[in-house]
Amino acid sequence: MELPWPLTDGRVTVRPAEEADAPAFLAYKRRPECQAYITRTVDTLEQSRSLIADRLAEPDSVLCAVLVDGQVVGDIGGRRYRPESLGPEPDVHDFYLGYTVNPDHGGRGIASAATGLLVTALHHAGIRRVVAKAFAENVASIRVLTKNGFRLEGTERLAVLGRDGRWLDDCTLAHLAE
Ligand SMILES: CC(C)(COP(=O)(O)OP(=O)(O)OC[C@H]1O[C@@H](n2cnc3c(N)ncnc32)[C@H](O)[C@@H]1OP(=O)(O)O)[C@@H](O)C(=O)NCCC(=O)NCCS
Repeated sequence: MELPWPLTDGRVTVRPAEEADAPAFLAYKRRPECQAYITRTVDTLEQSRSLIADRLAEPDSVLCAVLVDGQVVGDIGGRRYRPESLGPEPDVHDFYLGYTVNPDHGGRGIASAATGLLVTALHHAGIRRVVAKAFAENVASIRVLTKNGFRLEGTERLAVLGRDGRWLDDCTLAHLAE
């Protein structure tokens, strides 16, 4: 997707991921605390490279590195899709959002800033509705979203089997273009 890269607020920068980001992504994505709520996990350099290559090859996907002081500290991205319709072909896109921040840099507002930058750019690019799914117990992620104006639209109770064998409540939050 064409967005006015890089996106930055002066402290946090979001730019498209590159093959060379694979080691930096691996460094945190292999950590258990980064895998608990993520579908596609990364445990090897090869898997990290494949993730980047796959996402760059998909025209509707976005995968970005999040940088602070020139260092990759996380990733953010997602996929645009056509909204459902009862008949007429929608001429707009919606977008599924996801992100991870290296726990060594957690709690410094980095995910919140990156989300704000990307969501604003997506709406400017014509995206109508940005949707994020987060498990109810992932309080930090839900806070990132609500701080950025996302609203909780619903919670599917005990809908997804977690990695540790517990059934998790799955929340849907969304941010609509003005
Ligand atoms: C969720 C995640 C991206 C947050 O990244 P981050 O850069 O630490 O987030 P921020 O610092 O911008 O904001 C975190 C907010 O959650 C709050 N928070 C963090 N842990 C919390 C907890 N256990 N309970 C309550 N609030 C919590 C912080 O206080 C902060 O809110 P505040 O600014 O109002 O104080 C990061 O923890 C992560 O990568 N987790 C693993 C991957 C993941 O779950 N991704 C999202 C999938 S939906």
